[in-house]
Amino acid sequence: MPNAKIVVAGTGGTIAGRSSVVGDNVGYRAGEVPIAELMEGLAARVTALGGIQMELVQVAQVDSKDMGPAVWGPMLRNLQRWLDAPEVKAVVVTHGTDTLEETAYLLARVLQPQKKPVVLTCAMRPASALVPDGPQNLLDALSVALDERTAGVQVVAAGWVHAARHISKIHTYRLDAFSSGDAGPIGCVEEGHLRWFGKASVDAGPAGAGHALGRIDFAAFSEASWPRVEVITSHSGATGDAVDAMLLQANGPRPLRGLVVAGTGNGTLHHELEAALLRAQAAGVVVWRTTRCAFGQVVGCADVPATGPDAASTDFMPSAAGSSASLPASALPPVKARIELMLHLMARDSMTR
Ligand code: SIN
Repeated sequence: MPNAKIVVAGTGGTIAGRSSVVGDNVGYRAGEVPIAELMEGLAARVTALGGIQMELVQVAQVDSKDMGPAVWGPMLRNLQRWLDAPEVKAVVVTHGTDTLEETAYLLARVLQPQKKPVVLTCAMRPASALVPDGPQNLLDALSVALDERTAGVQVVAAGWVHAARHISKIHTYRLDAFSSGDAGPIGCVEEGHLRWFGKASVDAGPAGAGHALGRIDFAAFSEASWPRVEVITSHSGATGDAVDAMLLQANGPRPLRGLVVAGTGNGTLHHELEAALLRAQAAGVVVWRTTRCAFGQVVGCADVPATGPDAASTDFMPSAAGSSASLPASALPPVKARIELMLHLMARDSMTR
């Protein structure tokens, strides 16, 4: 296509991190180096880029521990605009590793079905490291974005291509810090060449056709009006005190709308916590159960609870799994179940606006 373009959007993270001490891989500040600086010299290295223009956009400059609606809102609106533009072939997004899986999951759910590639990438070492990993990850992400077989939201890190549905950060320090658990990565990048492992590349999200989000008007949700959904964990000696305290804020400026509980093992809950969660559910808070285990999922539950207009009357796909059958279970890990629950509530809110 004439004037074909690839957009590279920077949001911060360690890939854009800088330390005053060259080579210091720990005491740096994330989100300092502009995307234009990160991309300097790299475009010339991607042979597949011949004739394709690059647009570099600084969407945000944050440590991704602070990622949330303040960045997601504008990011979603920008992405939709870029992807709608016929000349844009693909979008690459740089992001911190700490919450990368959450943003990837959100984008996969909201943008699907998405044929044009949206490829997220990151780094474990700052740009000022003696041997940074960011430039290679960015090159790999560009290669994946430009490959004709790529579609939908993907994450590229340490030579692997991961689906947004399955990727989790599992290591604090290693360069290869991500895992796709039992599912495994969907491909790898070998010296600029993408090798798919034969899994579907489209739609890194969990969705089947039955999990449509409906129409969420993100412009209608200011940063403060994204529904408040908290994650709590069941553990030895757990109580219901934190849940009860949150319920007391029902008339405050940010009332609790949803709770995701990371249960033990197969989604089981300490009985005191479970009693408090049932009180929360009775008070109108949507409560979903999942597991705190790094691998596996609550056995027998639907891939994701139903979301959107089709779910208006039931709120969820109930599960018979685990001990707390009256609290629905999600197959997602806690932080992704939280995103899914926020989307579920937003889809519901959009219908009543
Ligand atoms: C961040 O998530 O922004 C900091 C950590 C990292 O990118 O590795």
